[in-house]
Amino acid sequence: VIRHGAMLHPLAAAMLHPLASISLSISVFFSQNSKNAQGLVGLRNLGNTCFMNSILQCLSNTHDLRDYCLRNTHRTDLNNNCRANAALMEEFAKLTQILWTSASNEAISPSDFKTQIQKYAPRFVGYNQQDAQEFLRFLLDGLHNEVNRVSVRPRVPVEDFDHLSDDEKAKRMWNKYLEREDSKVVDLFVGQLKSSLTCSECGFCSTVFDPFWDLSLPIAKSSGEVALIDCLRLFTKEDVLDGNEKPTCQRCKARRKCTKKFSIQKFPKVLVLHLKRFSEARVKTAKLSTFVNFPIKELDLREFASDNMNAIYNLYAVSNHTGTTLGGHYTAYCRNPSTGEWYTYNDSRVSPMSSSQVRSSDAYVLFYELALSSRM
Ligand SMILES: *[C@@H]1O[C@H](CO)[C@@H](O)[C@H](O)[C@H]1NC(C)=O
Ligand SMILES: *[C@@H]1O[C@H](CO)[C@@H](O)[C@H](O)[C@H]1NC(C)=O
Ligand SMILES: [Zn+2]
Repeated sequence: VIRHGAMLHPLAAAMLHPLASISLSISVFFSQNSKNAQGLVGLRNLGNTCFMNSILQCLSNTHDLRDYCLRNTHRTDLNNNCRANAALMEEFAKLTQILWTSASNEAISPSDFKTQIQKYAPRFVGYNQQDAQEFLRFLLDGLHNEVNRVSVRPRVPVEDFDHLSDDEKAKRMWNKYLEREDSKVVDLFVGQLKSSLTCSECGFCSTVFDPFWDLSLPIAKSSGEVALIDCLRLFTKEDVLDGNEKPTCQRCKARRKCTKKFSIQKFPKVLVLHLKRFSEARVKTAKLSTFVNFPIKELDLREFASDNMNAIYNLYAVSNHTGTTLGGHYTAYCRNPSTGEWYTYNDSRVSPMSSSQVRSSDAYVLFYELALSSRM
């Protein structure tokens, strides 16, 4: 593939672009590598848009995604696909660029970005309070669709991989996924979950491999605090499917009582953990304010791996929700990728904080980055 843009000197390319001044400050950003913290710019609240601001700040502090925007790599992906519409990605990149190159610390308005996300997902029209995790899903999906390296999704024939080993099957399933969905967003955020179904009659075990963009964790019941690891254990706990839920066993060719279990087949670079604080069961949704104790460093997930993988994650951002389902307020805590210091982003205000304050009963969406993964 010939990338036309690559022929130009980066500065020359910057000059040709309408956002030339931003591009120039970005080259300065990368060349000076200064110790002065950047990215400490707030986002104005446009009326109940704290959910959006909170997630935007978490994403802006996602090192690889930030650099993808700052280096304008998304344009290469767009050009290679001759995309007609990439307005959401453009606005997202522009916003990230302004957040990281702004000379002053004055808060900026995300209204151009909001216009685009509304076009993509009309549910975000208006100024209602929204769920930050749902917003994150819509946003990542929207960005992915615009920078997908696959421009025409092929029809993927249904193939039978059941004769293969689990490892081989997982690889084939993943490659099939990439034939349709392949982007920087997928590179960073998507992992693969294995679910195994074991028949209680004959012991036959069938496996399915599905991509995941985040994990929604149930909160373990407790009167006091619970550990994140216990929420993960609850999520991956063996579950019995009986009664109406009985699946069909492929060997017995009949509906049988089965046990189902999840494990992580492929660990994503960025692991988003969503704590299910809001129960959907009742009409008036209730919020669980259980204190979930999560590690800031070295979240070790090896016990949840399908095979002998070792995966260690470090926390770098949290979306914090205070208040109730109806009248809440979102903020973000982010670790600055350049300095390693933590900051609170409360709409237009950004202030330093200590990492000891990051854990609270209001932590709602956790962003972890993979620090180490290896086969044991
Ligand atoms: C966020 O800022 C508002 C004022 O804009 C303030 O009332 C509120 O207490 C702040 N919240 C937190 C958690 O710092
Ligand atoms: C986050 O939640 C904690 C715990 O309730 C609260 O005290 C704190 O003010 C919130 N922080 C921010 C920055 O919103
Ligand atoms: Zn069976």
